[in-house]
Amino acid sequence: MLEIDKINTFYGTSHILHDLSLTIPEGAMISVLGRNGVGKSTLLRSIIGLNPPRRGSITLNGRDLTRMSGHRRARLGVAYVPQGREIIADMTVAQNLEVAMFAKGMRSTKVPDFVYDLFPMIRPLMGRRGGVLSGGQQQQVAIARALVQEPDLLLLDEPTEGLQPSVVEEIDQIIRRIHTERNCSILLVEQNLFFVREVTEQFAIMENGRIVVSGDIAQLTDDLVAAHLSV
Ligand SMILES: Nc1ncnc2c1ncn2[C@@H]1O[C@H](COP(=O)(O)OP(=O)(O)OP(=O)(O)O)[C@@H](O)[C@H]1O
Ligand SMILES: [Mg+2]
Repeated sequence: MLEIDKINTFYGTSHILHDLSLTIPEGAMISVLGRNGVGKSTLLRSIIGLNPPRRGSITLNGRDLTRMSGHRRARLGVAYVPQGREIIADMTVAQNLEVAMFAKGMRSTKVPDFVYDLFPMIRPLMGRRGGVLSGGQQQQVAIARALVQEPDLLLLDEPTEGLQPSVVEEIDQIIRRIHTERNCSILLVEQNLFFVREVTEQFAIMENGRIVVSGDIAQLTDDLVAAHLSV
């Protein structure tokens, strides 16, 4: 469904992604792995349009997204959970969710019931300011903020970063439910290998702005991990 074809992405004159190609089939649950600074977040930012590639193309079900604005991508069903969550500190949780629905141009800004069902903790927090939430609460709000847009493809950048094991476990369950119950394809950037093996079905490893190995998660051997991921 999502076809990334030889994209080249830059920050100013820094060339970050080099002819990177990746296919994300409909229904996929795929993780992108790699050491710090290899360009994982830049890949997601290229897909969502925050940092579009200068060369190459990104198509979703045959439609060219490469130079499309962020809100048009949202309308086509792509949603994004940034690294570091980026919850707006001075807005309430309810307002953070409304902004996402507004950005997509949704007629109603009522939070869909399935979001409360996935995140029961959100209802009592709706009036709370984003800045006062714990890291785990912020991560759940960040995922909820993407889900209120009812995406078909969800991009998640390190959703377990800096969270305690019990919260990681909760996020694990939630991501699986999003995949199965919402029928949503998922592209996950993640450093936590245990989580990657538990949750995802395919993997792709990046080095220096390129995908160097990819396959089914069962093929992610300890040798591959040692060669490409250990520091
Ligand atoms: N806004 C920016 N301006 C200039 N260079 C940037 C910018 N953002 C990232 N970079 C550079 O681009 C490269 C890739 O960064 P990116 O954030 O995509 O890596 P990453 O794989 O997500 O790393 P991490 O695992 O630390 O999150 C790095 O060398 C980084 O320094
Ligand atoms: Mg990153």
